[in-house]
Amino acid sequence: MSLLDVRNLTVTYAGGAAAVRGVDLRLEAGQKLGLAGESGCGKSTLALALLRLLPSGARITGEVLLDGEDVLTMKWGRVRAVRWAGASVVFQGAMHSLNAVHRIGDQIAEPILLHKKATAAGAKRKTGELLEQVGLPAARADAYPHELSGGQRQRVMIAMALACDPQLIIADEPTTALDVMIQAQILRLIEQLVSDQDLGLIMISHDLAVLADTCDRLAVMYAGRVVEEGPAAQVYEDARHPYARALSAAFPRIGDPASRFAPQGLAGDPPDPAALPSGCTFHPRCPVALESCGEEDPALREAGAERRAACVLVGLPGAESRAAARDPQARGERPAEEPEALEEARPSTP
Ligand SMILES: Nc1ncnc2c1ncn2[C@@H]1O[C@H](COP(=O)(O)OP(=O)(O)OP(=O)(O)O)[C@@H](O)[C@H]1O
Ligand SMILES: [Mg+2]
Repeated sequence: MSLLDVRNLTVTYAGGAAAVRGVDLRLEAGQKLGLAGESGCGKSTLALALLRLLPSGARITGEVLLDGEDVLTMKWGRVRAVRWAGASVVFQGAMHSLNAVHRIGDQIAEPILLHKKATAAGAKRKTGELLEQVGLPAARADAYPHELSGGQRQRVMIAMALACDPQLIIADEPTTALDVMIQAQILRLIEQLVSDQDLGLIMISHDLAVLADTCDRLAVMYAGRVVEEGPAAQVYEDARHPYARALSAAFPRIGDPASRFAPQGLAGDPPDPAALPSGCTFHPRCPVALESCGEEDPALREAGAERRAACVLVGLPGAESRAAARDPQARGERPAEEPEALEEARPSTP
């Protein structure tokens, strides 16, 4: 049985359009899944839906099986227990998620007292251990959030997420608003903690390069749907869906000067959920769209071993390679004038 099995999950906000539209995802125990996609594609909505943390009025359909138990049909008491002991979330913008008027030690201890039924002394001991696990001295338990740096506060949020020994951590942009050095530290910390404790991880980010480095598998979302999913390195290096290819091409490759001089972008804006294009929602921006893409909205289909992509070209003999040849986003390609620009930019050797 998978640790997490999401089936046909759809979320519609009150008075709005569907922000998540029929997502299927699976995560095995100890596996790390990266979830990427541009702003507004539904990543946070999906993460919040997994633990029923959406605002009231949001309608969720489908199934979220956590260790075989459907979170969407659980009684509220059970949901509250599952939120700490089954799975926990490190939120986007965690800087504002701590309570300013309580010491951080008390905030970490609260779920331990409540859900683990620990004694005050037991919760204090566990809080000290958790702080040390995330690289903070146990004595910082007495600090208030404003006495900590952004990176330290994010470490506290991670300690809180681990407080009740969950099997799954959902980290939604855990390093947003931190400087690059601290970002790297925090990512390494999460990676190390989940590996040491054999936890499942869903890591959400815009940054496909970071996800490819941290996770075993990658899922790329577009307009509320997963459009590609597979082993992280393969999706990053050789995406099969044109949107995933464009997202991947947007990141410079270390050691490849060409990618630094030819930053690739994707024209156009993500679609408004209330006015989605017909057919494949990506077709108006797709560099390799066929005429039929305006009518046909393909489901995820087999795209290799343990890989799936939602594009009509996948599986059509020869179509993908012909399309990739026409796709300026395909890796390695540069604009025609690029080689000269590159030569000029290089320092001349004596
Ligand atoms: N509370 C809400 N009420 C109504 N609509 C919402 C709410 N939260 C998000 N949305 C809408 O749902 C869609 C998906 O938003 P979501 O926050 O899940 O995107 P995201 O992929 O996490 O983006 P980002 O990368 O910017 O965090 C957007 O169109 C957004 O406007
Ligand atoms: Mg978000």
